[in-house]
Amino acid sequence: MVTWVGTSWKMNMLLEESMTYAYALRSSLSVDTEKVRPFVIPPATALSGVSAALRGSGIRVGAQNVHWEENGEWTGEVSVPQVKDAGATIAEIGHAERRRYFCETDETVNLKVRASLSHGITPLVCVGEPVGVFDAGDSVPFVVDQFRKATAGVPQGSQVLIAYEPIWAIGATGMLPTLDHVSDVVSALRNEAPQIVEGILYGGSVSLDNASELMDIGGLDGLFVGRAALDVQNYIRIIEAVAH
Ligand code: PGA
Repeated sequence: MVTWVGTSWKMNMLLEESMTYAYALRSSLSVDTEKVRPFVIPPATALSGVSAALRGSGIRVGAQNVHWEENGEWTGEVSVPQVKDAGATIAEIGHAERRRYFCETDETVNLKVRASLSHGITPLVCVGEPVGVFDAGDSVPFVVDQFRKATAGVPQGSQVLIAYEPIWAIGATGMLPTLDHVSDVVSALRNEAPQIVEGILYGGSVSLDNASELMDIGGLDGLFVGRAALDVQNYIRIIEAVAH
């Protein structure tokens, strides 16, 4: 079985810190990167540098956002061919922060997913319910609906990664859900479109303390880590905990 352990640095790290992180990760990590697949998603400014530093290491690199058009009058945006040119093989799409602060909708998520696939980039589609939906007991239908909308029209045989990240679990004020809750949502996603789902990851307050128990959840293929992986040595410890 393949396990994914990825991290997005969000809007953190200057170029020098990014490069130091990438070199440290490359030199200290000792796992079989075909069985445990690490990936890092740096800010756009460090994408090409980090990709070059990690080339040939088996550690994949992703972009935090892409636009659905290949080029044109879209000031401030970055296209799929541009992130691919910079070395990305994964595109994170629809993170809760982008949905909340940058007007990302199910429709634009879908456009970005399809644009990524058309260029051979693996979309990492983030889905997750707000706390009100969780409190009402409607997490499963909400998340399944987000997933269906994100992948509408995606050709059979495509490979999509999903990160299930309940909004109320993300960030410094986030709370880790129970393992049963994650398990229920993962099982529902697993039944959705097995032919296009390459892996289902969990994200939101993942740490070294909870990584191993999260990975005991049946049907879960990996973890997507924020704060706890901003320190490279801690990220390495999490990857190694998952590997063993
Ligand atoms: P966190 O972030 O691990 O810091 O909660 C997770 C995420 O936003 O993907």
